[in-house]
Amino acid sequence: MRRIWQAFIVACVIYVSICDAAQTSGKKGKRKLNLPDTNTDMSARRTTRAGTWYADNAPILNQQLQTWLDQAPVLHSPARAIIAPHAGYRACGACSAFAYRQIDPTNVKRLFILAPSHRGRVSGCGLSSCSTYKNPLYDLTIDKQVYEHLNATGSFETFSRSIDEKEHSIEMQLPYIAKVMEKYEGSFTIVPVLVGRLNLTRQQEYGEIFAPYLANPENLFVISSDFWHWGKKFNYTYHDPAYGEIYQFIEHLDRMAMDLIENLDPVGFANEPELRGKTICGRNAIGILLYAVNTLRRNTANELKPTLRFLNYAQNRRCTSMNDTCVSYACGALTMQ
Ligand SMILES: *[C@@H]1O[C@H](CO)[C@@H](O)[C@H](O)[C@H]1NC(C)=O
Ligand SMILES: *[C@@H]1O[C@H](CO)[C@@H](O)[C@H](O)[C@H]1NC(C)=O
Ligand SMILES: *[C@@H]1O[C@H](CO)[C@@H](O)[C@H](O)[C@H]1NC(C)=O
Ligand SMILES: *[C@@H]1O[C@H](CO)[C@@H](O)[C@H](O)[C@H]1NC(C)=O
Repeated sequence: MRRIWQAFIVACVIYVSICDAAQTSGKKGKRKLNLPDTNTDMSARRTTRAGTWYADNAPILNQQLQTWLDQAPVLHSPARAIIAPHAGYRACGACSAFAYRQIDPTNVKRLFILAPSHRGRVSGCGLSSCSTYKNPLYDLTIDKQVYEHLNATGSFETFSRSIDEKEHSIEMQLPYIAKVMEKYEGSFTIVPVLVGRLNLTRQQEYGEIFAPYLANPENLFVISSDFWHWGKKFNYTYHDPAYGEIYQFIEHLDRMAMDLIENLDPVGFANEPELRGKTICGRNAIGILLYAVNTLRRNTANELKPTLRFLNYAQNRRCTSMNDTCVSYACGALTMQ
């Protein structure tokens, strides 16, 4: 128990930039932002990871996504929410397909994207100041009306295009969204939301704001999150050998988190002492989803039968030594019937 708390304290110290750093772990070299200098349209968020974290060539990207989707079975569908990672596609593209495959695009009109703000770029939840998100497949349009409604609650800040373009946690969902919605290009919108670090009170507040949207089958929620980050660069190197090799211990932590999330238990997920390392970067966004589900269950007298299932789990490498670094990915889907 003492060692767990030591690990907790150590892990709390780093807190920020955890996922950012993770993205390069599978590759040599540093992150690179491919900012074109020709685009002067301030209302369009440009891609900054295309060409490095995923293919910028549309036919190639399309083919990769198609291949991964073809390999993923329909297991828990039609999804009303999915949880999917935001790492480079080389590391997590195949895993993400297990979440995106559960989407039936037929009736989807709006995709909410709840994604963590790395490096504390927003304090609560934030809305983009752009109106379009660029993407190699096709551009995606922000839902003005929903944005106005959210903004009117007074609970959202508005983040600049510069913050928007530095953050990758929304962008990494866009090619998959464009792909699964391809038949409906131009007839659906997106609602990107950056999620800061929130205590349970605030997670619940946002859960209640989003609950009515989750109740509407025309809306789909994409929760952007990687799972455990292990290694010196994340300041989390705790290993309990009772669970086997390091990678097996990491899986133990991840499975514990997945179980709590599947139980739709926001408090248990946030408070589990063994998960206090808190290296799951999208935990606040996941918490909002869990509170939204709980709010719906309360308000609909249990007519809905929300079930959340994790469908695929992956690690970008098998950690066996203290010098290794590993990020894991877990993909899941929420259905309501
Ligand atoms: C990691 O934790 C140690 C304390 O265990 C601390 O001294 C160090 O500054 C931390 N590193 C980062 C990058 O936060
Ligand atoms: C939200 O409202 C504020 C205050 O009216 C405004 O400055 C901001 O641009 C709005 N944000 C969005 C995303 O509409
Ligand atoms: C939660 O965070 C909000 C805003 O940061 C703060 O006002 C509130 O006191 C916090 N609540 C608890 C229980 O810590
Ligand atoms: C880990 O790294 C340290 C310092 O870089 C080195 O001395 C040590 O031999 C390495 N250990 C393993 C198991 O590779």
